[in-house]
Amino acid sequence: MKIVLITGTSSGIGLATALRLARAGDRVYASMRDLHRAETLRQTATAEQLPVELVELDVDRENSVTGAVRQVLDQEGRLDVLVNNAGIAPFNPIEAASDDEVKRVFETNVFGALRMIRAVLPVMRSQRRGTIVNVSSVAGRLGPSCMGVYSASKFALEAASESLAREVFPHGIRVVIIEPGIIVTPILEKALANLPSEVDSPYSAAIRRTRKIFAQGQENGGHPDLVAEVIERAIAAPDPKLRYLAGADAAVLVGGRARMSDEEWITMERHATDDEYFTEFATRFPAGLQLP
Ligand SMILES: NC(=O)c1ccc[n+]([C@@H]2O[C@H](COP(=O)([O-])OP(=O)(O)OC[C@H]3O[C@@H](n4cnc5c(N)ncnc54)[C@H](OP(=O)(O)O)[C@@H]3O)[C@@H](O)[C@H]2O)c1
Repeated sequence: MKIVLITGTSSGIGLATALRLARAGDRVYASMRDLHRAETLRQTATAEQLPVELVELDVDRENSVTGAVRQVLDQEGRLDVLVNNAGIAPFNPIEAASDDEVKRVFETNVFGALRMIRAVLPVMRSQRRGTIVNVSSVAGRLGPSCMGVYSASKFALEAASESLAREVFPHGIRVVIIEPGIIVTPILEKALANLPSEVDSPYSAAIRRTRKIFAQGQENGGHPDLVAEVIERAIAAPDPKLRYLAGADAAVLVGGRARMSDEEWITMERHATDDEYFTEFATRFPAGLQLP
């Protein structure tokens, strides 16, 4: 039985991961910034008598982070796994994203994750073991239009994870990056709600195509438990890989991008019509996504 702390378990991938790991017998400290949003998790855990403990934790706040980690250590005396899952994804063209918006994204997706890592490393080092799972995205491997700020935060998380993995390897600690494709969770609606109107925007084509792709994703994207299963597998591996793609579309998107030059990726936006754009998309990323 492992002691696991997960951030952002009020919905989506965090919720699914908390339930999956608890059902497998791990003791799960399921954290969220607003415990009023714990109803689904609380009811399921009670009904199934799962070993889940709810913890209040806002990754944006240092005191909240250190307090939550202290609570786990006071109760258990050890921590085997941290899952850095909390994240936000307001889609926007770069020109339309204010400094405040960029800072908010980096505060949670990058600073929040690093804050959590710093809080758990002393105990993991003294244990001489532990696993840190950072939930990134395929957007941590490629930069789509209207996702530049989010993508930049996930590239940053991936870079920090890679360096960290080297630093802590001699201490017996493993670092794992999870890269989901499109997964049906509340984040998609929140992401699209942030997009500006395409009317009169200099980026109207990119905004419209982003809306179309993610509207399809809301219908046909993967289930959050698919990501939870990958996280469970990575944690269980004696020698985990650094990166795990999650979802069939993730493999197609990352593989397709790797086969393209930077210029081929950029000039996909040359098409005047959405039909032409999505025809090239389907050629570059065969069977990757259900396209409009
Ligand atoms: N869904 C996808 O297609 C997809 C694809 C690739 C990667 N991801 C990544 O997967 C992770 C989980 O996202 P999701 O899709 O499951 O979305 P979600 O359902 O919106 O879950 C995000 C979670 O993060 C929490 N959160 C946000 N800011 C926080 C903060 N400051 N402190 C603590 N918790 C905070 C949210 O809490 P509240 O309920 O309080 O807002 C929520 O519990 C994110 O890192 C996301 O970038 C998702």
